[in-house]
Amino acid sequence: MNSPLSAGRRPAFDLIRGHVLASTFAALDMTGSLTRLAEQGLTVEEAGANRFLGEGVFRYLSQRGVLRTDGDRYHLTELGRSLYEDRGYLVWLAGGYSEPLRRFGDLLTGAATYREDVLRDGKWVAVGSALLGKQDVQPEVVKLLGGLEFDRVADIGCGNAHFLITLHDQLGAKGLGIDISPEAVAEARREVEAAGKSGVIDVIEADGSDIASIPGLEDVQLAITFFFLHEVYEKGFDALVDYLRALAGRLPAGAHVLAAEVTAAPSSTATDDVFGPEFALVHAVMGQYLLDEEGWARAFTEAGLTVKRLVRPAMPDGLLILAQKAA
Ligand SMILES: C[S@@+](CC[C@H](N)C(=O)[O-])C[C@H]1O[C@@H](n2cnc3c(N)ncnc32)[C@H](O)[C@@H]1O
Repeated sequence: MNSPLSAGRRPAFDLIRGHVLASTFAALDMTGSLTRLAEQGLTVEEAGANRFLGEGVFRYLSQRGVLRTDGDRYHLTELGRSLYEDRGYLVWLAGGYSEPLRRFGDLLTGAATYREDVLRDGKWVAVGSALLGKQDVQPEVVKLLGGLEFDRVADIGCGNAHFLITLHDQLGAKGLGIDISPEAVAEARREVEAAGKSGVIDVIEADGSDIASIPGLEDVQLAITFFFLHEVYEKGFDALVDYLRALAGRLPAGAHVLAAEVTAAPSSTATDDVFGPEFALVHAVMGQYLLDEEGWARAFTEAGLTVKRLVRPAMPDGLLILAQKAA
């Protein structure tokens, strides 16, 4: 028998399987069922009002080796647990980018334009990023920041503010989150309130690519910006350097900047990178492209910051850049 995730010699069917599995698995997370399924199992009734579709999806996921039954309760198999660990990537893609990918042809021919006609879904980009970041980026971030002194942090492109919540939980720092997406800001404010941190973390809706629009940077000893700098790089390498220089200009002497990005090999030869090429293509839809490790580091250096650490977190093809403004 073939592996549950591979159809064998006809790779097109692997793609169909991957597409349907990714969409349905992410949907269970987006409806709030997946964690219950992982923790205590789930009946068809508990999955949603449409019993027919509930039976259909549980049958399907069982056929594909993701679920097993125990009486009328369904549980994740070992394969299901592996997918569950990485559900952030699936939510990020299926929840955040399914519409731009569905309209890929129109974007390619110019029949549609990204932003005017087609948009990603900011809420699920933020939720998916938070999930994958928590698992694959956060542990390295906490290790990297453990040795630094700071009590105020700004997070540019904060998504649902989960890093600020963690940094307050683990290191006691107060936070300011900045995001341009109203959905992400609403989600962040909900999360901050649910964590009981409304008094210590503020979230504002602003264009983080305009440093002048961010209040209070003079008082933060750490600026973090995770999976946001490629939005700035959209305007070119010089614009990225100018941006980092302007950011550094507003921070106090000795302050740190910590960025997380995905690196992409610019060449068109085949690569074994697990995630970078897909991440890069999804961002190309939005007119954005990525740098390799050397390029990201060079941008910080040219902006006058000292690159102190380059760390590869567990996120496939991810990169953490810790830089410092001269004391
Ligand atoms: C991939 S998400 C990452 C979210 C969060 N940093 C994380 O790692 O979980 C990128 C975030 O940047 C935000 N963003 C994009 N352009 C922005 C801009 N010009 N100003 C502020 N935020 C922006 C998006 O709305 C989104 O929430």
